[in-house]
Amino acid sequence: MKKSLYLFLLICLVAFEAVAQEINILPRPNKIELAKGQFALGDAKAIQYAPEAEKEAAFLKKALQERYNLSLQTNAGKGKKNTISLELDKKLAKDLGKEGYRLTSTPTQVTIRAATAAGIHYGIQSLLQAVHTSGDSYTLPAVAIEDTPRFEWRGLHLDEARHFKGKEEVKLLLDEMARLKMNTFHWHLVDDQGWRIEIKKYPKLTEIGSVRKSTAVGEKKWNSNKQSGEPHSGFYTQEEIKELVAYAAERHINVVPEIEMPGHASAAIAAYPWLGTDNQKIEVPVKFGRFYDIYDVTSPKVQEFLHDVLQEVFTLFPSQVIHIGGDEVGYEAWEKSKQVNAYMKEHGLKTYADLQVHFTNNISRYIEQNGRRMMGWNEIMGINIHPDFEEKKADANAETELAKNVVVHFWKGDVKLITQAASKGYQLVNSLHSMTYLDYNYSSIPLQKAYSFDPVPQELPKEYHQNIIGTGSQMWSEWIPTRGEMHYQVFPRLAAYAEVGWTQPENKNYEQFRKGLLPLLKVWEDRDIHFAPLSDAEEQKKNQ
Ligand code: ACM
Repeated sequence: MKKSLYLFLLICLVAFEAVAQEINILPRPNKIELAKGQFALGDAKAIQYAPEAEKEAAFLKKALQERYNLSLQTNAGKGKKNTISLELDKKLAKDLGKEGYRLTSTPTQVTIRAATAAGIHYGIQSLLQAVHTSGDSYTLPAVAIEDTPRFEWRGLHLDEARHFKGKEEVKLLLDEMARLKMNTFHWHLVDDQGWRIEIKKYPKLTEIGSVRKSTAVGEKKWNSNKQSGEPHSGFYTQEEIKELVAYAAERHINVVPEIEMPGHASAAIAAYPWLGTDNQKIEVPVKFGRFYDIYDVTSPKVQEFLHDVLQEVFTLFPSQVIHIGGDEVGYEAWEKSKQVNAYMKEHGLKTYADLQVHFTNNISRYIEQNGRRMMGWNEIMGINIHPDFEEKKADANAETELAKNVVVHFWKGDVKLITQAASKGYQLVNSLHSMTYLDYNYSSIPLQKAYSFDPVPQELPKEYHQNIIGTGSQMWSEWIPTRGEMHYQVFPRLAAYAEVGWTQPENKNYEQFRKGLLPLLKVWEDRDIHFAPLSDAEEQKKNQ
């Protein structure tokens, strides 16, 4: 190659890079082509929209007003000059799928095209992040973006059973999920230490089960004998749940409720002692851990209770998938129970793990009869993933096969277990605890490690890659009592997990991600979000 040509190409490359750096969208879009020029938002005449994108147009109008003080009209219709045009074409589903979009910006027009309103919504999120501010002038670089998510399940989980955070915090999280193109809010509403969802047929669940007298505190966490001495309480009425589900839906977020069974059931048993194996009156636990009675799943009355609760859950949550927990079930209570052992004999169930799978399969059938689909933590497969827990290391594996058509939520175990689940045809959400638990501190999951997570393990045979439908990040809250502490754990790691769920591995780049994070930190600061500073979030890197 001639030296001058080589030099010219090099200059082009550097220039392109310099411009490309200016577009900071998180999660990183999968295709970005920058062109010359820019669109001045101040000159935009209107937002034009296809009828199916009316709500998205209103969302964009409001965002431009709030952030940039720009007042744009919204009009049904398409294609006029100097407008932002939201166009829907179902045929685009072939190229863009259910959630993809094309965002094209020229000096005279901005167009977002997608097959669905969800795609338009994601295009809007990209548009809003791509705006450049210079004094009072707001511009969008001329660009062609084509973008589709890597995974269909991009989740944030929130445990409100251990510490109730309330409606405003949930809305804040939903807003930030929407900004980051996450689409699944996994709401952990029930656990030993609290029942947080109103169930009309069983009012004591919240009257008694949503209040505990005190809470374990202290530096030693799980081993602490210290108590707060303060009561903790809170729950969502059905009206509030409907409001939050609608708020999420406006942001194209599906809310997946988690109702734990057969373990993590103490708050329910405190409300109705007959739900447990030994009918003892207990209090809502003030300590964390796994030392409690569990549902007597062999009792017809308990089965009826769980069906009744699920009926109300179906009415409140349109989600196709309903999460039933199923993790960390301590079998001691079943071991000691005469009626449970008699039931097992009668049904030819050899082990307590078999009883759990048998029960889970009945629940799965019930959920399917009601037109939904069950999901549970990977213990629902009946394989003992807890040889490290003293009280569970002797548990046998089940011979009973888990029902088909359920989603396995993988949180613990090795790649052999994922492979086994996939080879049996299960769909999986990969929430491996050592990579995705937001309650873990930054020295165990620093930002870059969170960012590096690949939900498809390298060792997983290719034919099973399609079984991994996505990933979740989990905000367990035993030791996270306040909103500020929660923010510190969630932000900025949430942005890393958003990119894990959305961006193809070949388009990921940590330095580029980090750069994109800077304007986002400013947005969070303006919203009074108490994120971890990068010096804390990158703790391990700093110490290396
Ligand atoms: C879990 O962390 N117990 C799913």
